[in-house]
Parts: sequence; C-alpha cells; structure tokens
Amino acid sequence: MKLDHIGVAVRSLEQSLKFYRDQLGLRVAGTEEIPSEKVRVAMLPLGEGRLELLEPTAEDSPIARFIQKRGEGIHHIALEVEHLDRHLRQLEAGGVRVLPGKSEYGASGHRYAFLHPASCGGVLVELVEAAPPVRRESR
Ligand code: CO
Repeated sequence: MKLDHIGVAVRSLEQSLKFYRDQLGLRVAGTEEIPSEKVRVAMLPLGEGRLELLEPTAEDSPIARFIQKRGEGIHHIALEVEHLDRHLRQLEAGGVRVLPGKSEYGASGHRYAFLHPASCGGVLVELVEAAPPVRRESR
C-alpha cells in the first residue's frame, strides 16, 4: 500500500494554484470536474504521490460543507490498494465504517471508497484502486 494523494479543500483552484503552482513550482497534471462529488479537481504530482486540490461546484457539495465548518485545509488522505473490494470486505468485517457511495468512479476513472473518520483516528481515509477495471477501459 502506498500514499496516492492528499486531498486539500480549497475555495478556489485559481487562488490556491497561485501558491502551489506559481510559488512552490508544482506542475498541474490535469484539472477535471466530477459531477457526482460536485467538485473541480486539480492534480499536482508530488514525488510518487499527488496533491489533489478540491474546489466545490455547488453549495451542497461535501467540500463546500467541509469549508463552511472547518475552513480550507487537508480534507483526506488517499491510499492506493490493488483490490478495492477485497480491502473493503476485510475492513467492514473488522468493524470499519465505509461511507455510502463506495466504489464509484472518481478522478481519472479510478474506483475509490471513503472510510469514516470515526474509524480512522479522525482522518477521512480514501482507498483508491490501482488500475481502472477492464469494463471501464472499453468505453
Ligand atoms: Co481524493
């Protein structure tokens, strides 16, 4: 298992890129909108991992609610796993709470799921499957 990315909730991608891209010099690999999560995402490669900047696209977006409650900041950490379903089965069997909406397709078409912070020491943990499944590639 390795760190895939760190998700950072921001009010504005444009504003936050003034720091991460223009000041720190990180490269923006891509930007995409994920309608199911109501966010716009910018991915910035960082060593073997990435920074994922998340800008809400609607007032009722989970990211918008996070910023309203806690301000901008680190939102989640994402770990890469080979077999998402197997990990989820094991975790759930061990009493870990998996948030609804698991196994949906997220940024770059990867399957993912979120684990409840109450099960993870107060951290929202995302599990990302390493490679998109075959049926996704045929689209
Ligand atoms: Co993420």
